[in-house]
Amino acid sequence: DIYGVERKNPLGRDYSIGSERERAAKATAALANETLSAGPIVGGKLLAGKGAEPMMSPVDGTVLLGGVSEATVADIDMAAKRAKAAQPRWDALKGRGRARVLRAMGDALEADMDRLVALLAREGGKTLNDGVAEVREAVDFCRYYAHLAEVQFAGAEVLKGPVGETNSLELRGRGVFACISPWNFPLAIFTGQIAAALAAGNAVLAKPAEQTPFVAAEAVRLFHKAGLDPDLLALLPGDGATVGAALCGHSFVAGVAFTGGTDTARAINRQLADRDGPILPFIAETGGLNGLFADTTALREQVVDDVIASAIGSAGQRCSALRVLFVAKDSADELIATIAGALETLVVGDPADPATDIGPVIDAEARAALESHVVRLQREAKIVRRLDVGAWGAKGSYFAPVIAEVPRPDFLERETFGPILHVYRYDPDDLADVAGALAARGYGLTLGVHSRIERFADEVRALVPAGNVYVNRSIIGAVVGVQPFGGEGLSGTGPKAGGPHALLRYAVERALSVNI
Ligand code: NAD
Ligand code: ALA
Repeated sequence: DIYGVERKNPLGRDYSIGSERERAAKATAALANETLSAGPIVGGKLLAGKGAEPMMSPVDGTVLLGGVSEATVADIDMAAKRAKAAQPRWDALKGRGRARVLRAMGDALEADMDRLVALLAREGGKTLNDGVAEVREAVDFCRYYAHLAEVQFAGAEVLKGPVGETNSLELRGRGVFACISPWNFPLAIFTGQIAAALAAGNAVLAKPAEQTPFVAAEAVRLFHKAGLDPDLLALLPGDGATVGAALCGHSFVAGVAFTGGTDTARAINRQLADRDGPILPFIAETGGLNGLFADTTALREQVVDDVIASAIGSAGQRCSALRVLFVAKDSADELIATIAGALETLVVGDPADPATDIGPVIDAEARAALESHVVRLQREAKIVRRLDVGAWGAKGSYFAPVIAEVPRPDFLERETFGPILHVYRYDPDDLADVAGALAARGYGLTLGVHSRIERFADEVRALVPAGNVYVNRSIIGAVVGVQPFGGEGLSGTGPKAGGPHALLRYAVERALSVNI
């Protein structure tokens, strides 16, 4: 029963407890003394790769994280050959054998939680609480996919057929999967893609985002330590245009799992379409233009908390984050003023400090893109409030969160990946047109509704397609196995990560009919 997964979530951390804060501080201090290194890992060995780029922390531009080298074409080739040779043995283990390794990986991640959280803060600029949630999600992916592997990849399933004939259907791994991941969940999505591909019986060539190679290297080492044959998982860091494209073009690659921007997904899709050889499956989870509708019956305090968490929390760097709040015009003045007041209470600071609510955005490039959007807002919209980030702005890539009222429901053409909340006052008589304008942009990731009227929630849901709809709560933080996550339209292909169908596209189905 794939729906009846016995849940065993890893424990979190409670930083209101002194001993937990001390443990976090110790992990942060230990990491500060380390110079990290990452590069291609093939057959369990760290290779020289090419270049050795120094990487600085987004928290403080003077802090050197370490050096990272890029995988060469020869590294990719060697990794692909080893993966292809090792995969049949792994596939033959069936779900039960593979689940043992995935569960061991879940345990290894859980045991290393404090270090991983510290690394996520230092390399990814994540607050401690976001880091804890991310490690827990990575563990959940390993355990959930282990369970799916046991149930769905147990061996051939006998089907009903004519008397005298035996019919069966079996799921098998496809071969070697390329897994390409983003920087904003550098552990959870990186691990989740790999765990899914492995669970289904594949070997994996994993390319982390350029901005976050160190936590990815840590995850790969943990997979190997957990008992995975090193040939089944290689780390191939580097640029999308070089390493990413080389992976998607490699003749041994039998499928691509990608999470990242919509434009990148299109580029990969084009490359895959132009390849010679088999037609490859492409799993793409991309961005969203996520809205939340609050009518006049919504509870103000609840809306405020959920809007701040969804739009500004995690520095707005979630694909699920709220981009446009639609407020019924009769309650708009009060609601907007309260949200603006709540913004002022947020603490900007070092993400490794438990008191911090908002850390930096990932890098200077991301900050510059957001600042140029603010210029547009100044010109075409009305800035309601901007949080002051003080001296942090000069230290790291900190971006001051913004709330702005926009003049049109379709003001945003594309995702703005940071803590910018756009607000549009709607007239309830125009709901269909307003929601239709959002839907017409073609995205379909998350959607929120705040209302005490069920019919209103149903109406909004019918007007705006979205893979994940949340009523009277925040629109972020999908939990594996509870809120299977992923979008439609410009937001992705599915299947949903952390859902019961997640493994199927990673597999081939073979039917066998025997008359003896
Ligand atoms: P991105 O598209 O710039 O990069 C993602 C990955 O693709 C990176 O590893 C990058 O190196 C690689 N890449 C880039 N060009 C490539 C190419 N031509 N061929 C192969 N690989 C290539 O995205 P990002 O900035 O790292 O991440 C942020 C984006 O990810 C946002 O749009 C966000 O909404 C999206 N995202 C979506 C989900 C989801 O589940 N839907 C989850 C997290 C992030
Ligand atoms: N799965 C992540 C969330 O729901 C992106 O916020």
